[in-house]
Amino acid sequence: MTETQFTPRVFSGIQPSGNLHLGNYLGALKRFVDMQQPDMETIYCMVDLHAITVWQDPKELAHSTRELCAGFIAAGLDPDKSILFNQSQVPEHAQLAWIFNCVARMGWMQRMTQWKDKAGKNQQNASLGLFAYPSLMAADILTYHATHVPVGDDQKQHLELTRDIAIKFNHDYGVDFFPITEPVIEGAATRVMSLRDGSKKMSKSDPSDMSRINMTDDADTIAKKIRKAKTDPDALPSEIDGLEDRPEARNLVNIYAALSDQTVDQVLAAVGGKQFGEFKPMLAELAVEKLAPISSEMARLMGEEAEIDRILGKGAEKARAIAAPILQQTYEIVGMVSSKQG
Ligand code: TYM
Repeated sequence: MTETQFTPRVFSGIQPSGNLHLGNYLGALKRFVDMQQPDMETIYCMVDLHAITVWQDPKELAHSTRELCAGFIAAGLDPDKSILFNQSQVPEHAQLAWIFNCVARMGWMQRMTQWKDKAGKNQQNASLGLFAYPSLMAADILTYHATHVPVGDDQKQHLELTRDIAIKFNHDYGVDFFPITEPVIEGAATRVMSLRDGSKKMSKSDPSDMSRINMTDDADTIAKKIRKAKTDPDALPSEIDGLEDRPEARNLVNIYAALSDQTVDQVLAAVGGKQFGEFKPMLAELAVEKLAPISSEMARLMGEEAEIDRILGKGAEKARAIAAPILQQTYEIVGMVSSKQG
């Protein structure tokens, strides 16, 4: 099967589970904005059904969903150019996920590192939804026949599983129906690390708020977190090899490169030889310049809840217009009798 038979279409999602951070921004959201091009259909989703695979307080979930929508728009996604919506409002995601639950194998799910990490030692007590999570993710993507999925590095395995599900479905039913999606994991910051420990991913669940820059942080907080970020005593190298075994230095240089739309080589050519005492204020200034306008726009938009709900509602309608016929065709392929009149 060729991938070119499908019209290029971008889909990606972020969980509305609070603490949208710099890793989400550089690994995903900023790249969603970059892919918003006139010749490309772009669909971006707040995946609230995924969020409830672990407990969410209902009021906080609603707040986080609207805040994430505000973050999408403040970062540069334009509801007239991209489809923005929350997952639960397009029931085709959950419906296709059921079909995929019957395609995917238990062994595939058991191999997922995110399942192992999140369920931890107490797998018996984890929700069934957490286990089936990647099958819903495959449905998110494939109910739009999406061909390209921009994500951070930690989602790579889930996207491989999405490809496996598409391949097995097509094979089992003897069709060329679902595209074999391309993961788009690009740029200098596909894995932003904690500011306190360069061996750990920056994460919304890290108990230390100093480990991450939140997209809601104000300018002073952003600058303070960068000033206090863990580093080593050496000067910055002029070439990338010099960052080997220096995870904290590497992380700050990656962040600088991604925020300034440069390659790591370009950054090192300019800052090689500088001490962190000089580099950190440069990074703080850049981060404040790029992030503070987003956080203040998010705060402004959060004052316009009705407008956010209107944008989400319109987005869901547009998304459904694409998803419903694809689900209908899937049902026909699988052999579900349609009893609808007319
Ligand atoms: P989530 O909500 O955990 O993260 C959203 C996006 O942010 C990226 N990301 C990072 N990138 C770089 N460095 C980091 N430290 C970092 N932390 C998070 C993630 O890779 C992701 O791209 N399963 C997904 C949501 C999802 C989805 C989808 C994505 C559901 N359905 C369909 C793509 C397509 C997740 O939990 O992302």
